[in-house]
Amino acid sequence: MPLLPSDSAFVPFVSVQQMMDLVNHIGVEKVLTELAAEIEADFRRWESFDKVPRLASHSEMGVIELMPTSDGEMYGFKYVNGHPKNTAEGLQTVSAFGLLADVDTGYPRLLSEMTLLTALRTAATSALAAQHLAPAGARTMAMIGNGAQSEFQCLAFKAICGIDTVRLYDINPRATEKCARNLRRSGLNVATCRSGEESMEGAEIITTCTADKQYATILTDNMVGSGVHINAIGGDCPGKTELHRDILLRAEIFVEYPPQTRIEGEIQQLDDTHPVTELWRVIAGQAQGRKNAKQITLFDSVGFAIEDFAALRYVLTAIRGTGFYTKLDMLADPDDPRDLFGMLARAAT
Ligand SMILES: NC(=O)c1ccc[n+]([C@@H]2O[C@H](COP(=O)([O-])OP(=O)(O)OC[C@H]3O[C@@H](n4cnc5c(N)ncnc54)[C@H](O)[C@@H]3O)[C@@H](O)[C@H]2O)c1
Repeated sequence: MPLLPSDSAFVPFVSVQQMMDLVNHIGVEKVLTELAAEIEADFRRWESFDKVPRLASHSEMGVIELMPTSDGEMYGFKYVNGHPKNTAEGLQTVSAFGLLADVDTGYPRLLSEMTLLTALRTAATSALAAQHLAPAGARTMAMIGNGAQSEFQCLAFKAICGIDTVRLYDINPRATEKCARNLRRSGLNVATCRSGEESMEGAEIITTCTADKQYATILTDNMVGSGVHINAIGGDCPGKTELHRDILLRAEIFVEYPPQTRIEGEIQQLDDTHPVTELWRVIAGQAQGRKNAKQITLFDSVGFAIEDFAALRYVLTAIRGTGFYTKLDMLADPDDPRDLFGMLARAAT
């Protein structure tokens, strides 16, 4: 008679439903604020992490990526895709799941959905960057690209940076209507706009979060005045950018991990020696963020593994003592660790 698996066989699994319940239980803006604090703490100890550009498998339609990192105690990775044509087929452009494991045993400690968590961590990282880079007293943000990420971005900038007005634009007016509807009770003033130019009127922060599997020009040089902060989210693959190159030449550029951003970010349009500042250095006090009111700052965001690691660790802590997870029978757990076959054979009887 086989013994029941021990506790170490079971891995907490957070489903999409459980993630929604967890986030709604805590409150979206509180989650965004707490996630930003977790990410900030990990950016301060950037040097203690293993870092590698994410492993990308490209196809004509999109990309599938693996994003690993470790701080020596825990190991984490995320699986994520990016398929801009998916929305036309009723599918998400971006979907993801991820895992945290103990380095000492190699045993997984958490398996989680990360589609919602990616939207939350991306927004938290954007707002964290803007705290250091946006002009003082910024209140208005242009939000260009009103798809899946957009409301999360708007709420993070409200909760973390004190933005009170968002000006929405998308080439698809139904996306803008959806975003405006979802933000109706957010406490933000929401304006819907008919062009990118209109959305940028009076905006101190410009977020671009569009999806296209080609070089796009969401912002041209003449659209961007001095003193603004650009939070460029959507250019995150080789051949997939949002900003005209001339804007990059006028801006002070901040990035997550240069070896990855040089391949995937807006700066793929520049040569490899163009100066960029790593965001973690600004957060750790080793480099200056915004230097003056006239400067154009650009956060060339592509998303880095350490942000996902911080987000998974946040979830692992947040689910403790709650019902927002299921125990998955995920690891083989023979009574004698060498007798894996015996466990299988006994199960047949
Ligand atoms: N930097 C990061 O960490 C990070 C994280 C998540 C997603 N992303 C990227 O952000 C982008 C948006 O993701 P999503 O999940 O919101 O996608 P989505 O497909 O749900 O939304 C994208 C929106 O952009 C709009 N759009 C496309 N071209 C446009 C244009 N020229 N002008 C205005 N709007 C335009 C589309 O109509 C759509 O509504 C994707 O490219 C994704 O890869 C980056």
